[in-house]
Amino acid sequence: MSKVSTVKAFISLLAITVLAAPATSSTDSFVFGGCSQLKFTPGSPYESNVNLLLTSLVNSATFTTYSNFTVKSPTSQDTLYGLFQCRGDLSNGDCGRCVARAVSQLGTLCLDSSGGALQLEGCFVKYDNATFLGVEDKTEVLHKCGPLIGYDSDEMNRRDAMLDYLGTGDGSYKPFRVGGVGGVSSVAQCVQDLSASECQDCLSEAIGRLKTVCGAAAWGDLYLAKCYVRFSKAGAYSQDGNGNGNGNGNGNGNGSNSATRQGGGLRFFFVSD
Ligand SMILES: *[C@@H]1O[C@H](CO)[C@@H](O)[C@H](O)[C@H]1NC(C)=O
Ligand SMILES: *[C@@H]1O[C@H](CO)[C@@H](O)[C@H](O)[C@H]1NC(C)=O
Ligand SMILES: *[C@@H]1O[C@H](CO)[C@@H](O)[C@H](O)[C@H]1NC(C)=O
Repeated sequence: MSKVSTVKAFISLLAITVLAAPATSSTDSFVFGGCSQLKFTPGSPYESNVNLLLTSLVNSATFTTYSNFTVKSPTSQDTLYGLFQCRGDLSNGDCGRCVARAVSQLGTLCLDSSGGALQLEGCFVKYDNATFLGVEDKTEVLHKCGPLIGYDSDEMNRRDAMLDYLGTGDGSYKPFRVGGVGGVSSVAQCVQDLSASECQDCLSEAIGRLKTVCGAAAWGDLYLAKCYVRFSKAGAYSQDGNGNGNGNGNGNGNGSNSATRQGGGLRFFFVSD
C-alpha cells in the first residue's frame, strides 16, 4: 500500500548512493537524513502506524507548510509522533511534492527504523516514537562551508550584520526569515513546533555557530535539529543539487563523500556535493 512498506531491498549505503543521484529540482535536493537504529517488526501495528503517520504528513503538506500528527496506540511504545516543515516560501504544490519525496526517501533510507528524519532543501520530515514535538533541540546535525574567499572587512561586516538582523527577535512569531545585503543572501527557518522564544533561541545559536565555522566562506549552511541558517554570496552556491565543484563540507568538514554521525537517538547520513 504505502511506499514505506513496498521498498524493501536497500541497505543504507546503497540508499545513500541512490540519494546522491542528481535531484530533479533544488527543492528536492538531499541535505541529510537520520534513522533510529531500533527496528520495528515488519507487519506489526508499529508499521501500520508509521504508514498512517507518513501518509497523513504527505496529505497535509498539500495545504499547509507545517503540521504535526500523533498516532496513538494502546502501548506507548507504538505511539508515534511526526511532523513536516516546508521552507516558508514554498507554494502548497511545491510543499506537497517536497514532503512526498522526503517521505518516499525516508522509506528507503530508514527501512523498518522506529524513527527517522530527512531534510531536503525545501522540507524537513521527522517521525519517532519518542516525544520530540514541541521540544527544543539545538544539537548540530550538519554544517557545510563553501570555499574561503577574501571578503573585505566592509563586506564581512555587512554580511554579519545581516545575519545578526535575521537573528533579532521582536517578540512576534517569525519562523521563516530571509535577508540580503551587498550580494549576500541568507535564509533562516525554525521547525514550527517551537514557540516564538524557542525559535529565537535556536536561530541565535545557529547564527553564532555559522559565523564561527563558515565566517570567511563564500557560503555556509548550518543545521541544528530544529532550525537552520544559511548564507551565500551571489553565484557562489550551486542550486542544482548536483555538485558545484568547490564546496568542501560534509558534516565533519572532511571532504569525503558521505559521513555518518550519531545524534538525538538517530544515526545521521550526509551526502556532500
Ligand atoms: C520505539 O519502538 C521501538 C521498536 O518497536 C522500541 O524498541 C522502543 O522501545 C520504542 N521506544 C519508545 C520510547 O517507546
Ligand atoms: C500539533 O498540532 C495540533 C493540531 O493541529 C496543534 O494544536 C498543536 O499546537 C501542534 N503542536 C505542536 C507542538 O506544534
Ligand atoms: C576524516 O576521514 C577520515 C577517514 O575517512 C577519518 O579517519 C577522520 O576521523 C575524519 N575526520 C573527521 C574530522 O571526521
